Amino acid sequence: MLRGKKIVLGVTGGIAVYKSVDLVSRLRKQGAEVRVVMSEAATKFVTPLTFQEISGNAVAVSMWNEKHEFRVEHIALAEWADLLLVAPATANIIAKAANGIADNLLSTVLLAAPKPMIFCPAMNTNMLLHPATQENLNKLRKFGYIIMEPGSGPLACGTTGAGRLPEPAEIVEFVRYYLATQEGDLRGKNILVTAAGTREPIDPVRFVGNRSSGKMGYAVAQAAAERGAKVTLISGPSAITPPPNVEVINVETTFEMMEAVLQRFTDTDIVIKAAAVADYRCHEIAKQKIKKTGDDALVLVLDKNPDILKRLGELKTKQVLVGFAAETQNLLENAAQKIKKKNLDMIVANDVTLPGAGFNYDTNVVKFIFPDGKITTFEKMSKLAVANTLLDEIKTLI
Ligand code: C5P
Repeated sequence: MLRGKKIVLGVTGGIAVYKSVDLVSRLRKQGAEVRVVMSEAATKFVTPLTFQEISGNAVAVSMWNEKHEFRVEHIALAEWADLLLVAPATANIIAKAANGIADNLLSTVLLAAPKPMIFCPAMNTNMLLHPATQENLNKLRKFGYIIMEPGSGPLACGTTGAGRLPEPAEIVEFVRYYLATQEGDLRGKNILVTAAGTREPIDPVRFVGNRSSGKMGYAVAQAAAERGAKVTLISGPSAITPPPNVEVINVETTFEMMEAVLQRFTDTDIVIKAAAVADYRCHEIAKQKIKKTGDDALVLVLDKNPDILKRLGELKTKQVLVGFAAETQNLLENAAQKIKKKNLDMIVANDVTLPGAGFNYDTNVVKFIFPDGKITTFEKMSKLAVANTLLDEIKTLI
């Protein structure tokens, strides 16, 4: 998303300016071209020379510089930019931008640029929470500008609270996601992904579960968010860190997953059910830990769980429904049956007995199966590549 993007980075005077040096470097590594505009105050923390070397471009500070790179510098910078990013944004530049004040180069560039703008406020908590700053931030939001919420934690002034500039990697991720929501091929789509296995309690410490790691579903959620979709990931217990820019809902049992899925189904465009859902739950959950007895066997009675996907198949209106089928035998026949039984638009079938396929691997070997009997077979791919190939296919079904 950042490749070839022209970014004007406004840097204003707060201690967090040092983080912006790393930010420039990271934006460039992602393929963006960066021109830095500093306020006078910012130059007291880090010299323009540092930003010049890191950005590979001259740094602009003053309106009154005789050696201008452009003819009318503030207009030229505003025209050049695809995107303006202000990080760190002080209360001062926020106030100026919100009220149309143009009394230095950066504030003038901001006023002259009818371009997407992202502000990353960073300041003392009291300054941030002051009604004047809050009102100014709201004004910026009304103008259609984007505000990245500051982090919380220890601040340079010795207090602890909201007002920290997010880490450069987080800012880059935020900018990438913003661009994806504007330009990505899945922008505007609500996608619901389920992942990992559900667990059915036996007693307070034990459960019936399966070996699903969640890797496949998490890869689908990541790929969809990177392509600009609004993604909700409903996940059973998993050790994986969820991808950024995804709303995560953690559940444990099949019933909890069903409730979470049904709540969101109406507004969803695409459902991808990569979760390994427990088909049975304990008839009775012991209140206390079950003790070993002298008997040779312990009998657990299991009741059938509802089939979430089948329910969705019955409820479906506009939604594209994609199921997964992890099989150890008769892969194609089983998958084809599921498409019909659950009223699906396609199924991703994988034979979990193949090397490099299924639970816990970073790769998968899949076939896409469609209601008309068409089957597309793929070589072994990373789960992220499977996810992107799947999303390409789903696009043709929308
Ligand atoms: O019928 P089977 O469990 O093999 O089908 C797998 C597909 O159905 C997966 O997409 C899985 O997430 C979904 N499923 C479900 N509810 C269940 C069982 C499976 O949504 N109770």
